Amino acid sequence: MLILGLESSCDETGLALYDTQRGLLAHALHSQIAMHREYGGVVPELASRDHIRRALPLLEEVLEQAGVKLVDVDAIAFTQGPGLAGALLVGASVANGLALALGKPVIGIHHLEGHLLSPLLVDAPPPFPFVALLVSGGHTQLMRVTGVGEYETLGETLDDAAGEAFDKTAKLLGLGYPGGPEVSRLAEFGTPGAIVLPRPMLHSGDLDFSFSGLKTAVLTQVRKLGTNICEQDKADIARGFVDAAVDVLAAKSIAALKRTGLKRLVIAGGVGANRQLREALNHAAKRRGFAVHYPDLALCTDNGAMIALAGALRLERWPEQAEHSYAFTVKPR
Ligand code: KG4
Ligand code: ZN
Repeated sequence: MLILGLESSCDETGLALYDTQRGLLAHALHSQIAMHREYGGVVPELASRDHIRRALPLLEEVLEQAGVKLVDVDAIAFTQGPGLAGALLVGASVANGLALALGKPVIGIHHLEGHLLSPLLVDAPPPFPFVALLVSGGHTQLMRVTGVGEYETLGETLDDAAGEAFDKTAKLLGLGYPGGPEVSRLAEFGTPGAIVLPRPMLHSGDLDFSFSGLKTAVLTQVRKLGTNICEQDKADIARGFVDAAVDVLAAKSIAALKRTGLKRLVIAGGVGANRQLREALNHAAKRRGFAVHYPDLALCTDNGAMIALAGALRLERWPEQAEHSYAFTVKPR
């Protein structure tokens, strides 16, 4: 079965072809980051228009990469939500339009399920069951994953997502958008321990998170230094922030493994690209004897490959989820 996957929930247009026998055949991505940068964040209307411009050229690109024809596609998977309504509508329209023209089924995919399954897009995928830490710009969750479609939330953020905290910290430090990679880079120049920020809910005894207090702590530090703030101060604050965020994410992930008795941890979502988080988890895994799996760096942030894979796995398991009505809806929330 050959599945075309289409992701358009936010500021990345991603298309991919996944074959259930041969694996990922092609994926292509256009990031709108440069376009939104001058506004300091994603402008929804601009995002929708750009998805319209990019979708079909990217489709041609993946067909060429994979050396297949559009008529060879057996089903089309698209991101149904959550995300920006207009952006989702573009992807849903393109997917349903193509499927209608081809007479092929479509399947709407939950964006987070895409992220959750993205670590399986490697040569030796981790077997089920595992604990997944889903850390993106909109979500921070720990899940017990028993199989495709079998997800139990173990804990989640009570306020900001981890990626959101990275992005807000970047803004407070005057760094560019998106903030995660920039804060991470700057933190490398910071002195460990020079600025110690709180680890929210580290000892709460549950598997929930909170990141809004950490963001406020960054704001307090920035205000305290005022106009005297120098580059080294900023690096020290970035370091303090990253150390606190990583500490909490790692500790709760380890607690989730303990609670479930599982020995496998899978990381997914944009913050999963973070170097310091990967270092901390790799270290903990060695010391405590669990396995940790990450998606390819390129597949941590939004992409079409994870949507194609989720579509393929769902249709294999539940062929009745294939839609032929083309009367689609999107689910922004
Ligand atoms: O998964 P994703 O691409 O989109 C959502 O579904 O939200 O995640 C984007 C988030 C942004 O907040 C971004 O700043 C963060 O992931 N991010 C990072 C890194 N790369 C992306 N955060 C920390 N370190 C990184 N290297
Ligand atoms: Zn995402």
